[in-house]
Order: sequence, then C-alpha cells, then structure tokens
Amino acid sequence: MRFDPEISVDNGPNIDSLLRANFPTEFEANLVRKLRTAERMCAEHGLWDKGALVGYIGYSRVHIEGMDSKREIWGLGPMAVDTEHQRQGIGGKFLQESLAAIEADALVLLGHTSFYNKVGFQPAADFGLTYSDNDAQNAHFMALECWKGALEGHAGRVVYERVFYDE
Ligand SMILES: CC(C)(COP(=O)(O)OP(=O)(O)OC[C@H]1O[C@@H](n2cnc3c(N)ncnc32)[C@H](O)[C@@H]1OP(=O)(O)O)[C@@H](O)C(=O)NCCC(=O)NCCS
Repeated sequence: MRFDPEISVDNGPNIDSLLRANFPTEFEANLVRKLRTAERMCAEHGLWDKGALVGYIGYSRVHIEGMDSKREIWGLGPMAVDTEHQRQGIGGKFLQESLAAIEADALVLLGHTSFYNKVGFQPAADFGLTYSDNDAQNAHFMALECWKGALEGHAGRVVYERVFYDE
C-alpha cells in the first residue's frame, strides 16, 4: 500500500471509478469532478495497491456563515476505500496519514461517527457548529481542531463550496 500525498490531475478517471463503485449514487463522483475542474480542492490524497487506486480523500474549504475568519477550515470528503479493502483497518490508517499531511487549522465532515471519532473527530455541535436545520444531518456532522483552540469563537452554520448543494 502506498500513500500518495499529491494525487495528480490526470487521475480523474481513477478517482471517478472508485467513488462511483463505493457510494450509492453518483453524487460524490460528480462533486469531485466539479471541484477538480474548478480547482477548488485544498488537498487530495490517494492510496495505491499494486498500481490500483484503492483509497481517496479530498478536502475543500468551508466558511462559517456571517464570519470573516482567516482560519483554514476545511471540509473532509468524500473519503472512500474500495470494498475489497474495507473493514481491515486500512481506512483508519489512511486517514491518519492524510491528517498528518495537511495544513489546515480545523476540519469538519459529515460521516460515519463511529469511524471518525477513532481519529479524534467529535460532534461539531461541541463547537457550536451546524451543517443544516436538520437534526439527523447534524448528528453526523463532526469537527476536529488541528491545534487546540482552532475553533474557539467560530460557532455557526458551516457553508461548503456551492457545488456541494447541487442536486
Ligand atoms: C468509511 C470507510 C472509508 C472506512 O474505511 P475502512 O477501511 O473500512 O475503515 P477501517 O477498517 O479502518 O475502520 C472500520 C470501522 O469504520 C466504521 N465503519 C466503516 N464503514 C462503516 C459504515 N458503512 N457504517 C458505519 N460505520 C462504518 C466502523 O466503526 C468500522 O469498525 P468495524 O469494522 O469494527 O465495525 C469505507 O468503509 C468506505 O469507503 N465506505 C464507503 C464510502 C463511504 O461511506 N465513505 C465515507 C463517507 S463518511
């Protein structure tokens, strides 16, 4: 397994196939294609096994509604590990390597809480952050300070890149 801290621009088709195969809809694949085309990704990491892309994590900038902050707050996602490699500890290790390679102040994400709390994510509500008015969505909304205090004074509604809200 090889961690790739700078998955190249021409890997679009590999990323696309991985995301299409591992999410129930095309939403994530389309999202990444649009963000890459618009050059709105802050960081993208890959995981390779014998020449095949078996893992992907993308990050894009978010902001807090009504707040003019200089902090680098990034949304983590999508993240995927291909089905054959899931539930063997590979995703957790990949995520840890990825977190060690980024330069953000804080991260947010919508995802499986049982997976992400193992690497230190906690409910975004602990920091007064929300994703929407929907309690069920907010229950899956998590945050991580990359350094202690990074989210202090940063409560409110988190807003992603516009394409995240495309139908
Ligand atoms: C989520 C994902 C990245 C985890 O990668 P992984 O290599 O399977 O993760 P690990 O083996 O390190 O950790 C497994 C743990 O993550 C959690 N987890 C993994 N998939 C999960 C799922 N579908 N629902 C809930 N929890 C899940 C569980 O706590 C699991 O522990 P368990 O196997 O003891 O139940 C991978 O399963 C995946 O790509 N899934 C499909 C796409 C997806 O859902 N992406 C994430 C969106 S938040």
